[in-house]
Amino acid sequence: MDLRTFIRDIPDFPEKGIIFRDITPLLKDKGAFKHAIDMLAEKLSEIDFDLIVAPEARGFIFGGALSYKLNKGFIPVRKPGKLPYEVISEKYTLEYGEAELQMHVDSINKGQKVIIFDDVLATGGTAKALKKLVEKAGGELVAMSFLIELSYLNPRNILKDENIISLIIL
Ligand code: PRP
Repeated sequence: MDLRTFIRDIPDFPEKGIIFRDITPLLKDKGAFKHAIDMLAEKLSEIDFDLIVAPEARGFIFGGALSYKLNKGFIPVRKPGKLPYEVISEKYTLEYGEAELQMHVDSINKGQKVIIFDDVLATGGTAKALKKLVEKAGGELVAMSFLIELSYLNPRNILKDENIISLIIL
């Protein structure tokens, strides 16, 4: 199954000049969604880790399914003002603007092994901010994984030395 056929390109969204990679066709097809989760789970099953850390909104869909399938804990990373307990924060630059992410301060026990998961790796700004949050919280980042990596934006340039596992490379 070629999962690329389930990704729809939306030009000039959310801003002119950006091609948005819409994964909703993949999500609504039960076979494609299952195939994506199964393939990702197979890749991640080789790694020794404790927790999946994923950002809203689309990171939750995959991160949640993968946590269940691999029997790991799930840590939600949210936009400011959404988490009810004490948080740690990280500001970062997105492909289209500035943003901030937050995680509960007690999400990760010291030394726990963490995999970051997100739907799309674009400029790498979000992934870098997630890594900083994981480290601030005392976790050990063992890998970063993505459904789609936009290699033409060169995200690996700012994620040197990371173990990056992407299912679809565009
Ligand atoms: C998208 C995507 C990643 C991020 C990747 O999220 O889901 O989280 O951009 O971009 P980067 O590598 O350039 O940082 P978005 O900000 O659109 O948030 P959403 O999932 O809540 O819509």
